[in-house]
Amino acid sequence: MKMVKAVIKPFKLDDVKDALVGLDIAGMTVSEVRGHGRQKGHTELYRGAEYAVDFVPKTELTVVVKADQVDAVVEAIIGAARTDKVGDGKIFVTDVEKVVRIRTGETDAEALS
Ligand SMILES: Nc1ncnc2c1ncn2[C@@H]1O[C@H](COP(=O)(O)OP(=O)(O)OP(=O)(O)O)[C@@H](O)[C@H]1O
Ligand SMILES: [Mg+2]
Repeated sequence: MKMVKAVIKPFKLDDVKDALVGLDIAGMTVSEVRGHGRQKGHTELYRGAEYAVDFVPKTELTVVVKADQVDAVVEAIIGAARTDKVGDGKIFVTDVEKVVRIRTGETDAEALS
């Protein structure tokens, strides 16, 4: 099982959500966050600004899926979130050791279906 965490532009959330429909995703978590990438939050670097950091509003989407779903999920997010401008975001994929559905006690793949 893998956790796919995507930081995207907030206005792209609906497109990404729609792109994930049909991929048999059993759930997702969305948060409003703030962050910066390598431009440190500045669209343009100006004299003296290299050392100042501005946080930009972003939306973070977390989806835990079976390992064989990761590529499809990542491709769907890229396809829906990409504008070809800076700040389009990043996708982080990590291993998930265990999943438990609290209501039933089901674990791992069963808890993701
Ligand atoms: N290394 C990182 N660790 C954690 N969060 C990050 C990292 N890089 C980017 N982010 C998050 O993703 C958001 C979008 O990053 P962004 O797309 O600007 O990355 P970038 O590397 O600057 O690429 P680009 O040049 O396309 O802008 C940031 O505002 C931040 O919330
Ligand atoms: Mg950036």
